Amino acid sequence: MRPIEDILILPEREPWPLLLRKSGKAGGVFLEIGFGNGEYLVHLAGKRPGETFWGAEMSRACVLRAMKRVQQAGLDNVFLLCGDARFFLAECFEQGALDGIYMNFPCPWPKRRHSKRRVSAGGFADELARNLKPGGFFELVTDEEWYGREVELALSDHPALVKERWAVNPPRSATTKYERRWKALGKDIYLFRTIRRGWCPDCEPPTPKEEEPMHEVVPRGDSAADALRALYGQGGGSGETIWIYKKTFSSGDGLHLIEVVTSDDGFEQKFFLQVVERASNCLVKIPPHSVPFRTKSVKGALRALADHLKSGASSGGDGAVEPPA
Ligand SMILES: C[S@@+](CC[C@H](N)C(=O)[O-])C[C@H]1O[C@@H](n2cnc3c(N)ncnc32)[C@H](O)[C@@H]1O
Repeated sequence: MRPIEDILILPEREPWPLLLRKSGKAGGVFLEIGFGNGEYLVHLAGKRPGETFWGAEMSRACVLRAMKRVQQAGLDNVFLLCGDARFFLAECFEQGALDGIYMNFPCPWPKRRHSKRRVSAGGFADELARNLKPGGFFELVTDEEWYGREVELALSDHPALVKERWAVNPPRSATTKYERRWKALGKDIYLFRTIRRGWCPDCEPPTPKEEEPMHEVVPRGDSAADALRALYGQGGGSGETIWIYKKTFSSGDGLHLIEVVTSDDGFEQKFFLQVVERASNCLVKIPPHSVPFRTKSVKGALRALADHLKSGASSGGDGAVEPPA
């Protein structure tokens, strides 16, 4: 049976950007966002063994169920990611690496105050344009017409995307759990599909992202332990990107761990930053056992901690960190 660590991929432990053709198959590479119990993904992968299928899902319980399904089906062309698909699209994949993206019955978050939680909120169109190869597709299936129309409208403005199809109750090769649920209630099903155009003057591919180093070297001050302890309960960031420093653990021989809680658009992480005191300077880094996704707030927390130590070193006292807004 295929081992779990071969199916569930932790991008923070992989080379960056993530190698999507992991299966070694020559065919296309596809992603399903919010795969639920994984049956649609497994259906596609079983029918198309020469292609590679990735799934991104926030719910750990769903990921576990899907993992068992992949094992039982004996598939070697499915890989699962546990976390927010918006983050994976924005940070983990190489530009133009996907042949298609499926999204079946996403949570529509109908209340206005929750609208930011929709997968399709914010810069989704840009992320589709960046991640899809020319000719690649994004396909949404939903039971909420207003939601389908909202996504259609949001994507229609993008110069790199062109609408291919809008259909009501289209024939489908397989159904999902939610699809069966809504159909049993007599609801209609809406399909919207858009295609990534070839590169053109108005839709040039954005410049590829460069990996930022996740460490900083700062001058050594009087006492890093004191400077770090002074940070307890302080934080920084703005808007939806914030961080807070918690307890510090110091070994007494120049090694310190500081606990950090971060939030990016409500995506929370708890991890450690490490400060290593060396002869003439301090190294601030993410220790190898603590593997947060490298979101904006994680990068911000690391930079602000380094700045705090720098200002402490230059003033001979503790630098202050801006409290979160
Ligand atoms: C209504 S269920 C549909 C599940 C499945 N696609 C189906 O049709 O049966 C929506 C799924 O999307 C997942 N989800 C919601 N937001 C997500 C995000 N930003 N990234 C990944 N998965 C997400 C939820 O955890 C949930 O399992």
